[in-house]
Amino acid sequence: MHVTMIAAMDGERALSRGGRVPWHLPADVAMFRGYCEGKALLAGRRTWEQMRGWFRAGQLPLVLTRREGLEVPGGRAVGSVGEALRETWVRGYGELVVIGGGETYGAALGVAGQLILTEVRGKVGGDVFFPALDPCEWEVKDEVDHAADEAHEFAFTIRRYERRAIEPTDEPL
Ligand SMILES: NC(=O)c1ccc[n+]([C@@H]2O[C@H](COP(=O)([O-])OP(=O)(O)OC[C@H]3O[C@@H](n4cnc5c(N)ncnc54)[C@H](OP(=O)(O)O)[C@@H]3O)[C@@H](O)[C@H]2O)c1
Repeated sequence: MHVTMIAAMDGERALSRGGRVPWHLPADVAMFRGYCEGKALLAGRRTWEQMRGWFRAGQLPLVLTRREGLEVPGGRAVGSVGEALRETWVRGYGELVVIGGGETYGAALGVAGQLILTEVRGKVGGDVFFPALDPCEWEVKDEVDHAADEAHEFAFTIRRYERRAIEPTDEPL
């Protein structure tokens, strides 16, 4: 079972401001849509509320919540990341993609093996943040730059990270 987290953030890891994402980057949105096609997707309840109507046939929306009885069209509510992993497996999906927001990235970071992170060039500012990454744990595998243009107010870089394997060591524990 693969777990990927996908997010866009500014240079200070801000994900959103006042409940909305403060940039519009169509090429990044297209990459996000393409990556999420046909996959199990874990969203925090607040992000899911904002994305109603976005989910497509073939996707399995799983909504992280502490609430009882939340109805999720085409998917279901889950009370933990572990429950989301079980549901992904039971329904026959090979990958769970964590699509935010900040609390949900924080809850899932420990089980993620891959990150696809768009860094929006500049300090856009926000009030919800992606968790800090330990550079010892993550290795950049691919990196694609996109310049600012008439459709993209900001330049941005999309990086794909993989979790580093733990090296065997002779050091005493
Ligand atoms: N830039 C990006 O890539 C990106 C991506 C996604 C979202 N966003 C932004 O992120 C913001 C939302 O992020 P957020 O951090 O406020 O909220 P969130 O992670 O979307 O959702 C938070 C909710 O998830 C549930 N939850 C969180 N941790 C849980 C746990 N350990 N166990 C069970 N349930 C848990 C709770 O739901 P209940 O209250 O129902 O119990 C909580 O209120 C939005 O403004 C959105 O625009 C940005």
